[in-house]
Amino acid sequence: MRKKIIAGNWKMNKNLSEGTDLANELSEILTSSSTDVEVILGVPFTHLDKVASISDKFSVSAQNCSAQESGAYTGEISTKMILSTGAKYVILGHSERRAYHQENNADLVKKVDLCLSDNLKVIYCCGELLSERDSGNHFEIVKSQIEEALFHLSAEQISRVVIAYEPVWAIGTGVTASSAQAQEMHAYIRSIFTDKYGVDVPQALSILYGGSCKPSNAQEIFSKEDVDGGLIGGASLNANDFSQIINAF
Ligand code: PGA
Repeated sequence: MRKKIIAGNWKMNKNLSEGTDLANELSEILTSSSTDVEVILGVPFTHLDKVASISDKFSVSAQNCSAQESGAYTGEISTKMILSTGAKYVILGHSERRAYHQENNADLVKKVDLCLSDNLKVIYCCGELLSERDSGNHFEIVKSQIEEALFHLSAEQISRVVIAYEPVWAIGTGVTASSAQAQEMHAYIRSIFTDKYGVDVPQALSILYGGSCKPSNAQEIFSKEDVDGGLIGGASLNANDFSQIINAF
């Protein structure tokens, strides 16, 4: 059975006190309901320690990490620092980091390796631009993002990776991929893992959909066979919306 996962990506939103309130609200909701979904909160670095201490109903994720282990890298945050806060995951390769920080697949190899060697799980984001979909290159782009950053890993290491397919044209735009488009890409992603690792690894691999997922469309998207959950941006900033998405499975 693949793990069902709903991960929130708060991005650069909420100061520490607002983030603490949101995490507390969510903790209360999750305590009074029961779910077999693993809930993860991707919060700013400054909130990791605090939010991780609030509840065992969710795990906490950073949204990035340094590609260096330690040393003279002013302003950077290492995987060991992240681990020491109680965080369990790191989101890597988000399209906003690829676009605004020129993060490429080669940088991501270093980050992926550091996370896994420091016992942090990885939520690895991939997804095409609208122009790439329009020109029919979306499968190829997603394949290269995955191959170049992940296919040097062993099967055991892949078991500590979650994939988030996030078509860039759907992120923060209000335009969601149709459930058929999501299913088509998720099945394709699983198939490239099958080609590389055989059948067992992809059968255990959770593949999340991200991009304008909200309470009104979550159930339809999650009903698809190869969609194992979601990476939720805007709608994770509201405890009610986010918990409705969690309950959409
Ligand atoms: P969105 O963001 O849900 O606001 O579209 C998703 C993401 O960027 O992870």
